[in-house]
Amino acid sequence: MFDLIKKPITTSFAPNVQGDDVTLALQQVLSLMFKSKNNQFINTLKEWFCSYYHVKHCFVFSSGRAALYYLLKSLNLEPGSEIVVQALTCVAVPNSIIWSGLKPVYVDVDKKTLNMDIDDLRKKISQKTKAIIIQHTFGIPAEIKMIKQIADRNNLILIEDCAHSLGGTYQGQKLGSFGDVAFFSFGRDKMISSVFGGAIVTKNSSLAKKLAICENKLQQTPKSFLVKQLLFNPIYYFSLLLYPIIIGRIIIKLCFKINLLSKAVYNEEKIGKMPQFIDYRFSPFLAKLALNQLLKIDDFNQHRRQIADIYTKLIKSDNFGDEITIFLRYPILLNNKNHVLTQAKKNGIYLGDWYSTPITPIKTDFNAFFYILDSCPNAEELVHRLINLPTHINIKPDEAKKICTFINSLSFK
Ligand SMILES: Cc1ncc(COP(=O)(O)O)c(C=O)c1O
Repeated sequence: MFDLIKKPITTSFAPNVQGDDVTLALQQVLSLMFKSKNNQFINTLKEWFCSYYHVKHCFVFSSGRAALYYLLKSLNLEPGSEIVVQALTCVAVPNSIIWSGLKPVYVDVDKKTLNMDIDDLRKKISQKTKAIIIQHTFGIPAEIKMIKQIADRNNLILIEDCAHSLGGTYQGQKLGSFGDVAFFSFGRDKMISSVFGGAIVTKNSSLAKKLAICENKLQQTPKSFLVKQLLFNPIYYFSLLLYPIIIGRIIIKLCFKINLLSKAVYNEEKIGKMPQFIDYRFSPFLAKLALNQLLKIDDFNQHRRQIADIYTKLIKSDNFGDEITIFLRYPILLNNKNHVLTQAKKNGIYLGDWYSTPITPIKTDFNAFFYILDSCPNAEELVHRLINLPTHINIKPDEAKKICTFINSLSFK
């Protein structure tokens, strides 16, 4: 009987969600029905970011991609200006660049860090380049000090994409505090989650004025969108309990089919179209979920370190980052990626496959995103070998050890 409620080991599937988040989400559904919204939650969320990053300005949006889109629009760059970004990223990043009338230019990654390769960055900067977006992939800090020097020398705006790295540091300084501006995601698979949501922090007052105008103009979020996001955590939480007896899988599939759950990347985004939620105001009902997660961020991150430490010690593979890296997911390279992913799934272990293409989840139409095949050979090779292991709060040390044993038994035969 108890085996029936033994949850699978998952990397995705509402990873940060605990019982209190589920209760809160259900309370928020009731509040949405019967009470007026409380903007204080938005203010408190902004205060948290301002205090944590020692900045005066924070703005919130419906998602990380919306934050990046409005940030780029606020820069008032000439249409067609080039924005440098790394390969091995989510399509949300180049999409936000393209939606704002700009052109993404892809820099290859360093195979040792999965972050931007400095030499290739120098090569990809042109007269048209106006900004660099630095992604601290999986929480592994990019060589941000050197990149800042390059940005300063070339008079480029430095944007830190902290979608993976809330709470991380580089040489004792917080990631997100090096650039001119940083943005964050509260997406379902990120360091903290309100299913959808994002923020920008900056010290730059003139940029802040423009961002404030954008934020003020955002549309009211429809209740139907909010209900979907608020039900996401409860549905996943309970479905995971029923996962081993098929019912959980059926419930999740059904909820997607009847549009009660929304995908992280909408289908239209895969062909470069902007979804409507980009223009939605970040809702206080979701801000409340994000705030509850922020209360736990130190515990989350300490846990991520503890789990990563197990992987570092036990997995027979190259390691990325170091002992102070806070991994969103723990990356490893294998020569039999697909075999390991499939076998793991058969054994109730759902590992991550970020990134499966240089602009995940785009599989074919790279031209539409200005990506030229063979332009980032390291990234193109890594996608065949890279898998990622869960570090989130719901993974117990014993489960991490089980993952290590499993991978070691399969991957080096
Ligand atoms: C590196 C990176 N940047 C930005 C984003 C966009 O964040 P969001 O999903 O909140 O729009 C993502 C999303 O997956 C991401 O992985």
